[in-house]
Amino acid sequence: MKALIHDPSASHGIRLADAPDPLPGPGQVLVENQAISLNYGELRNIAGNTPGTVPGWDSAGIVVRGASDGSGPPAGSRVVTFGWGGAWGALRAVDTAELAIVPDTVESGAASTLPVAAVTALRALRDLGGVIGRRILVTGASGGVGRFAVQLAARAGAHVIASVGSPERAEGLAALGAHQLVTGLHGVQAPLHGILDNVAGPQLAAAFALLAPGATAEWIGTVSGQAIPLDTPHKMSQGRLNAFFLGDLLGEDLSYLLTLLEHGNLDPQIAWRSTWHDVAAAADALFARRINGKAVLDVK
Ligand SMILES: NC(=O)c1ccc[n+]([C@@H]2O[C@H](COP(=O)([O-])OP(=O)(O)OC[C@H]3O[C@@H](n4cnc5c(N)ncnc54)[C@H](OP(=O)(O)O)[C@@H]3O)[C@@H](O)[C@H]2O)c1
Repeated sequence: MKALIHDPSASHGIRLADAPDPLPGPGQVLVENQAISLNYGELRNIAGNTPGTVPGWDSAGIVVRGASDGSGPPAGSRVVTFGWGGAWGALRAVDTAELAIVPDTVESGAASTLPVAAVTALRALRDLGGVIGRRILVTGASGGVGRFAVQLAARAGAHVIASVGSPERAEGLAALGAHQLVTGLHGVQAPLHGILDNVAGPQLAAAFALLAPGATAEWIGTVSGQAIPLDTPHKMSQGRLNAFFLGDLLGEDLSYLLTLLEHGNLDPQIAWRSTWHDVAAAADALFARRINGKAVLDVK
């Protein structure tokens, strides 16, 4: 099959090449991919893959062979899929617990944006507990996780404070439900009742100091590349810092998010789209902070 494989000598460590077809295990379906969405983490950590293997976490396509153990959807079903590798091939073997059937009115590119970014936003928001009427800060709000976090927190009844790196990166966030747009933490006041943080570094430490006693900061990502200096006086906020990890078994959450997409209650925020021949240009744009949401590659 054709696939984007890891090649340390290629631009961003990725090259379109021939690769062996995947062999599904008993609890896996074989999917012909139509679209993949890119994530900061898989691109940033591409060197962690063995050269020649097929990386990638998110894809959507059509089941071409059902699972031999009888689990999951039959051939012909359109699905969105997740796994810690193998998404960037024309074919993907995927666990039946890591997929969901895509409604007819949701196109595959939109569905492909959901696994890592939207399920992360959903699960991190859940970890905060009830947020109705609560002041929730979302940092890195302009990005993939951030734009889903803003929408889901607003939908859950929170007062959403969306933090971006520069004013132009806030474009569209008010329409997604953000009540306050800030650059960095400029103008953010205590108390915060929860934080969904994608940036880490000194900014997270400063935000942590604004937490109400007992409130939680979900440390999702470290796009700043900086450690979190959580020394006094930040510790004195009496908040809780949780190192978030997405985990697995995404199927049920994907089904829920697809329902939101289907009824127009969630927007995938596709800000960049082309075929998978243009993966290097997509990675350039992502690392240059030029993508206001998700980048999608059509598999063709
Ligand atoms: N723990 C987990 O299980 C988990 C799951 C999913 C994602 N993540 C992590 O969450 C983070 C966000 O992922 P994503 O897919 O949403 O990434 P993304 O789409 O690239 O968005 C990240 C946002 O962070 C900001 N940013 C980028 N570089 C920055 C820098 N050097 N300093 C400060 N801000 C910067 C950008 O916004 P501005 O330009 O507005 O600053 C950008 O919109 C990543 O670190 C990712 O690895 C973790």
